[in-house]
Amino acid sequence: MAHDFTPLQNDRILRAARGQTVDRPPMWVMRQAGRYLPEYHEAKGQHDFFECCRSPEIASTLTLQPIDRYDGFIDAAIIFSDILVIPQAMGMEVQMVDKVGPQFPNPLRSPQDQQYADVLGKDVDVKEELDYVYKAITLTRQKLKGRVPLIGFCGAPWTLLCYMVEGGGTKMFRWAKTWVYEYGAESKKLLQKISEICVEYLVLQVEAGAQMLQVFDSWAGELTPTAFEEFSLPFLRYISKHTKERLKERGLEVVPMTVFAKGAWYALEQLCESEYETVGLDWLHDPAEAMRIAKGRVTLQGNADPGILYGSDESVTKLVEGMVKGFGGGKERWIVNLGHGITPGVDPEKLKHFFEEVVRCTRSSVAK
Ligand code: CP3
Repeated sequence: MAHDFTPLQNDRILRAARGQTVDRPPMWVMRQAGRYLPEYHEAKGQHDFFECCRSPEIASTLTLQPIDRYDGFIDAAIIFSDILVIPQAMGMEVQMVDKVGPQFPNPLRSPQDQQYADVLGKDVDVKEELDYVYKAITLTRQKLKGRVPLIGFCGAPWTLLCYMVEGGGTKMFRWAKTWVYEYGAESKKLLQKISEICVEYLVLQVEAGAQMLQVFDSWAGELTPTAFEEFSLPFLRYISKHTKERLKERGLEVVPMTVFAKGAWYALEQLCESEYETVGLDWLHDPAEAMRIAKGRVTLQGNADPGILYGSDESVTKLVEGMVKGFGGGKERWIVNLGHGITPGVDPEKLKHFFEEVVRCTRSSVAK
């Protein structure tokens, strides 16, 4: 089913991801549709979070809010959804509790639990179970009218396993560590199952209209370099390789893919060799050092500390100047972003100042 969408007017991010020349580095922000925006609260109203994800009308409205507010600055939209829709599709219950975050009433605590066999054995109908996401993507593409590309996404297997076994956010990772260090083989079976679902989900997002894809490994930094190599990296590689193969097979566009493994600074070299066009960086990376490691093999994305947006305009300016310089002045393969999601309580005007300063600092740098 091919869609007839309005041609793209701004392809900066797609060009940058593929290493082509751009007039200025593209910009967007993780979690750009979210709680720091008053219009988000207004549109969300009393609706439950996952109800918003399941309503193509609400999800597309929320996706467009930052595009409208930061018109001319933001170069991509990201579909309003959540990484936890995959565990839901796998048969697990997930609630979003106000001021607490996601909660699984019945987390997967051990491979001996019947639930482990149930989850592994379930033949997940990824098309049917997540149909609301594809509908939201298609509607959002129509509403975008080609203004900017639309990014689709999923959670990385390791990060999803963490949520599925912990049952929510955690500081200790007691259960996730028990799984990898006590039930290694069983963990890998689960990670493989999640990976296969991710591939199908991403391909269907592209079919619905997603023009770029990002895989969020938000908890990568909880692993050691050795454990990351065993429990995360092979599955991230499985996803990029198989998503691309399947897109080709199905005659769909092989869209650029981004991997964001938060905290995995030690794995940058390996991530540059993992068949992702773009590698996202958190704020622990020194941009110049990351550029030296990447050697132009991938486009880097990031990496301002989201906390800078609680600071003064002068602090934002200083950080942007340093970041732009570190990433090569805007002439190298770079997508501007924060090093993680924008946080609640940030003044939306501060983000505008951030964008303006990037534009100012990169203006002099004409494309290669
Ligand atoms: O604007 C966008 O980036 C698109 C939407 C998006 C959301 N979640 C909306 C959301 C994306 C890309 C995500 C990904 C996501 N979800 C990740 C990976 C990125 C990251 O931040 O590490 C993770 C770990 C989750 C799981 C999740 N969802 C948590 C831990 C929470 C609660 C705490 C928090 O940071 O908000 C959510 C809820 C959530 N997802 C909200 C939004 C706008 C807030 C919901 C609300 O309270 O209104």
